[in-house]
Amino acid sequence: MNKKLDEKIYHIWHPFTNMNVFYEEPLIFTEGHGSLLKDVNNKTYINALSGLWNTAFGLGDQEVIDAITAQLKNISYASLFRMGHAIAQRYAEKLFQVLPGNLSKVFFTSNGSEAVETMIKATRQFYKLQGKHGKMNIICLRRAYHGVSYGALSASGFTEDQEMYAQLLPGFIHIEPPYCYRCPYHRKVDDCQTECAREIENVIQKVGIDKIAAFMMEPILGFGGFIVPPDKFHEELIKILRKYDILLLMDEVTTGFGRTGKFFACEHWGLSPDMMALGKAISGGYIPLGATVFSEEIYHTFLRAGVTGRFAHGSTYSGNPAACAAGEKMLEIYQRADVSAKA
Ligand SMILES: Cc1ncc(COP(=O)(O)O)c(C=O)c1O
Repeated sequence: MNKKLDEKIYHIWHPFTNMNVFYEEPLIFTEGHGSLLKDVNNKTYINALSGLWNTAFGLGDQEVIDAITAQLKNISYASLFRMGHAIAQRYAEKLFQVLPGNLSKVFFTSNGSEAVETMIKATRQFYKLQGKHGKMNIICLRRAYHGVSYGALSASGFTEDQEMYAQLLPGFIHIEPPYCYRCPYHRKVDDCQTECAREIENVIQKVGIDKIAAFMMEPILGFGGFIVPPDKFHEELIKILRKYDILLLMDEVTTGFGRTGKFFACEHWGLSPDMMALGKAISGGYIPLGATVFSEEIYHTFLRAGVTGRFAHGSTYSGNPAACAAGEKMLEIYQRADVSAKA
């Protein structure tokens, strides 16, 4: 077992960690190759969680390291604020080739939370640009995890993690998840009446279509318990989305890049999101990266609006060249290895 740590000489405050427990039994890695990790005592571990579900193709792959190194030597930094750089452009074109439905424009972020935050802000601006100022509310699922920033946290459905950080952002309405094993409506699978999906319509009718902007979901709930919604849920969802003027925001941070047997999990059900948040396996754990991808319609609404359509959003490391090089190489590896077929 690792030696207990002295709190006074240890200077890292770990995320989502009870530090008292950590000091007692610190697990500190020194090396990682492929799917194995080694700790300070030379003990070997299998990286069975794939990091935080992001090191989808193992650690220390020479091909990825070479791609990142070459990029760093070529141009280590340029921003995407009112200018661009070649690697981001090339990578976005390749990403576009694998995106489902009508998604075509890539907005780079540095992680999954930021990708979700980007969807929330873009949704609000999208409707404001059309003069629909009341369309502010996003319907979300209980048990959903969307990240840690205030928008993403407010969209998430874990009250125990939210209470400590109240007040949260207004404008998120949570409904029960499509969780057949513990059906919130006490149904058996054979007798499913898709109340969970129909609740989306109930909320729209109760709150008013002029106040509902979007429905946000993970196509398969990850952190919430690896919950795969039944086909019926998505069939009903597609009908509701066709009937009402609301957007579909898909959080594929966990499920993207071949993890579920399709390149993106929403493809299992033929869902056509208006926006999609990506992260985690996007760069295989090599460099922080995320992205929000948008449909033509969303993008062109901003474009047509002229000056007010400027998306006042982004951060210093959005589209960092080395991160884009990691993303581009990982995409090539996933495609070459046909990960979707093997998942
Ligand atoms: C579905 C989902 N969305 C968003 C996030 C947030 O991503 P990040 O931790 O990169 O900010 C996570 C992280 O676990 C996630 O599982």
